[in-house]
Amino acid sequence: MKNRKPDYIGTDYGFDSVLSSSAIDELPLWSAPFGLALLDAVEYRKKITALDIGFGTGFPLIELAQRLGKSSTVYGIDPWRPSHLRAKYRMKFHGIDNVILIKGAAEEIPLKDKSVDLIVSNNGTNNVQDIDKVFAECSRIAKRGAQFIITVNLDATFKEFYTAFFKVLEKRGMNDEIIKLKKHIRDKRPPLEETKSLFEKNGFRIRKVVKDKFVMKFADAESFFSHSLIKLGFSGNWEKLLPQKSAAAIFRQIGKSLSQTAKERKFTVPFALIDTFKV
Ligand SMILES: C[S@@+](CC[C@H](N)C(=O)[O-])C[C@H]1O[C@@H](n2cnc3c(N)ncnc32)[C@H](O)[C@@H]1O
Repeated sequence: MKNRKPDYIGTDYGFDSVLSSSAIDELPLWSAPFGLALLDAVEYRKKITALDIGFGTGFPLIELAQRLGKSSTVYGIDPWRPSHLRAKYRMKFHGIDNVILIKGAAEEIPLKDKSVDLIVSNNGTNNVQDIDKVFAECSRIAKRGAQFIITVNLDATFKEFYTAFFKVLEKRGMNDEIIKLKKHIRDKRPPLEETKSLFEKNGFRIRKVVKDKFVMKFADAESFFSHSLIKLGFSGNWEKLLPQKSAAAIFRQIGKSLSQTAKERKFTVPFALIDTFKV
């Protein structure tokens, strides 16, 4: 798909069901540490064309559009319809007119070859179906010298929880589930070296990699399991790895195990920022 007319662009999705995405913060607390690092790494210039992949409810898309200013155009691509409604509502409310939303997947970006100066993705590229296709598309649309920055959480995310999870599965002799859990972590959060080589394979040279982490603390395991972030983005997948009849008991056992290891439940989220440019 080369130089296809961007037919998604400018479609009016209306504001009627914006409420369906309004329960999710415009900048989820979870995304903020990644996002601040990303916004800091951007080389701000006038009159550029930028793209945000997987903008959720409008982050960093709307912030970036404001910081780049009206002489620049910022496209945002995301297949999730409610995200468009929420972002559109916010853009209209604040009078932001240099953003163009594309409803679709980044595996097929309806922008011209060599037309984009800046591509960003805050915890977005690690959520796509086909990462190889997405990077090939980014390579196609990037101008020579274009900056491409992503942030991703790393494989040791919530390692305190996963250590307890593996321990419980081992105690129960659930070897198949141990294999499934290892594969799940590998698929969701591939090693950083793999992501770095994807950039290089697609003609992007790495300028810098910044590693950081933040910690989420909870009073007990129950508050961790019932937190909105865990319910929205994690626990459904964990449950799918387990036989339905024993899932609840296993989570109770993990909770107990977590309570024994520390008084205060701390869960670490290591992440990386990869800043590159097109050669
Ligand atoms: C973890 S959220 C990140 C949202 C936002 N960037 C933030 O920092 O809060 C991942 C986003 O990627 C979007 N996404 C999933 N698959 C995608 C794809 N193939 N192309 C573009 N975006 C995709 C999801 O709809 C979701 O909005």
